[in-house]
Amino acid sequence: MTDLFTPLELRDLEVPNRIAVSPMCQYSCEPDGLPTEWHRVHLGSRAVGGAGIVMTEATAVEPRGRITPHDLGIWSDEHADALEPITAFIREQGGVPGIQLAHAGHKASKCRPWDGNLPIQPGETDPDGASGWEVLSPSPDAYPPFDGDRPAMKRADADDIQGVIDAYRAAAERSLAAGFEIAEVHAAHGYLLHEFLSPVTNHRADEYGGSFENRTRLLREVVDAVRDVWPEDKPVFVRISGTDWLEGRDAWDIDQSVRLADDLADRGVDLIDVSSGGLHPEQDVPGGPNFQVPLAEAVREGADVAVGAVGGVTEPEQADALVRNGRADVVLVGREFLRDPYFGLRASDDLEDDPTAWPEQYRRAVQ
Ligand SMILES: Cc1cc2nc3c(=O)[nH]c(=O)nc-3n(C[C@H](O)[C@H](O)[C@H](O)COP(=O)(O)O)c2cc1C
Repeated sequence: MTDLFTPLELRDLEVPNRIAVSPMCQYSCEPDGLPTEWHRVHLGSRAVGGAGIVMTEATAVEPRGRITPHDLGIWSDEHADALEPITAFIREQGGVPGIQLAHAGHKASKCRPWDGNLPIQPGETDPDGASGWEVLSPSPDAYPPFDGDRPAMKRADADDIQGVIDAYRAAAERSLAAGFEIAEVHAAHGYLLHEFLSPVTNHRADEYGGSFENRTRLLREVVDAVRDVWPEDKPVFVRISGTDWLEGRDAWDIDQSVRLADDLADRGVDLIDVSSGGLHPEQDVPGGPNFQVPLAEAVREGADVAVGAVGGVTEPEQADALVRNGRADVVLVGREFLRDPYFGLRASDDLEDDPTAWPEQYRRAVQ
C-alpha cells in the first residue's frame, strides 16, 4: 500500500487515506447560512471521489463572521440539522466529515467574488439584496483609513472577545450534533484569529496584544473552548498561515508558527493545517507546486504534532511523495478537487490500481 493510502489514526478516528478536500467557500447560501442542494452535491461528490477527509468551507460561528452574506454558518440548531444529512452521506462513502469553524473578522461583509468582492457597508446591499454589517477587528487603526474600500469596523471589546469564544464553543457542540468528526479552527488567511496573531493587524495594548503570549491568547482560548466540548476520542485541527510573507517587517512568521503549534499540541490539537498569507495586500507569495510545503515541514520538524500540507498539489504521485518523505501527514487538495471531484479515485487508480476503491455503482467503468 502506498503512503497516501495508508490509514491515519488520530485519537480513535481512523482516516482511510491521507487525501483531504481543502476547505473552499462556495458562496451558495441564502443570507441565513443554511446549506443548500449545492453543498450536498458539492461535498457529496468529493466523498464519492475518494477523499479521506471532506472538509466544509469556512463555516461562520456567528453571522458577522461570514465573509459574504452567502457563506455557510453554524450559529443555530437549524444549521446543525440541515448539515446532518451531508455528514451522513460522506460517512456512507467511507469518508470523514470535517468542518472548518471560522470568523472572518475585518474581512467580512463582502460581495461574492463573482460580484466583485467589494465591501458591503452596513445599510447597503449586495447585488442579490443581502445586507452588509459592521465588521470586527482587533485594531481598526491597523488598517488603511476608511475610504470606501473597507466596511465599517468595530474594535473588539471584552464582550466581543468573550462572544467569539462562546460562539466557537457553541459551534463545536452543534458540529458534533451534525455528525462531524473533525473540528478545524480557522486561524489563517487574515481572518479574525489570524488578525489577532499578527503584529501587523494587532496593535492592542491589552492582554490580547503586544507579546507573542498576548497575540496568541484568543486562539488559545478558542481552542480550549472547542476542546472542552469536542469529545476526547475525536481530533481537532487548526489551520494557520505559516507566515504573512512580509519579509523585513514585524509580522507573523514561521518561527512563531512552530512555537504556536507546540503550544496548541499541548492543548489537545491533533493536526496543524499549514497554509499561508492572506493578511496583507503587500504579501510576497512565491506560488507554484508545493509552495507552502516547507512551512508544513518546519512545523512538523519543530513541533510534536501531525501536519497537513496544502497548496499547489495536483498530482497523485506528488501527494504520495509528501507523505512518503515525511513532509506531511495529510495532503489537502483545493483547486484540483474543483477540476476533478474524483481526484481521490484517480490517485487510487494511479498508485494502487485497485478497482474496489470505486463505489460499487461505478465499478463496471473500471473493471
Ligand atoms: C474557491 C476557493 C475557496 C476557498 N475557501 C477557503 C476557505 O473557506 N477556507 C480556507 O481555509 N481556505 C480556503 N481556500 C484556500 C484553499 O483551501 C487552499 O488552501 C488553496 O486553494 C491552496 O490549495 P490548492 O493549491 O490545492 O488550491 C479557498 C480556495 C479556493 C480556490
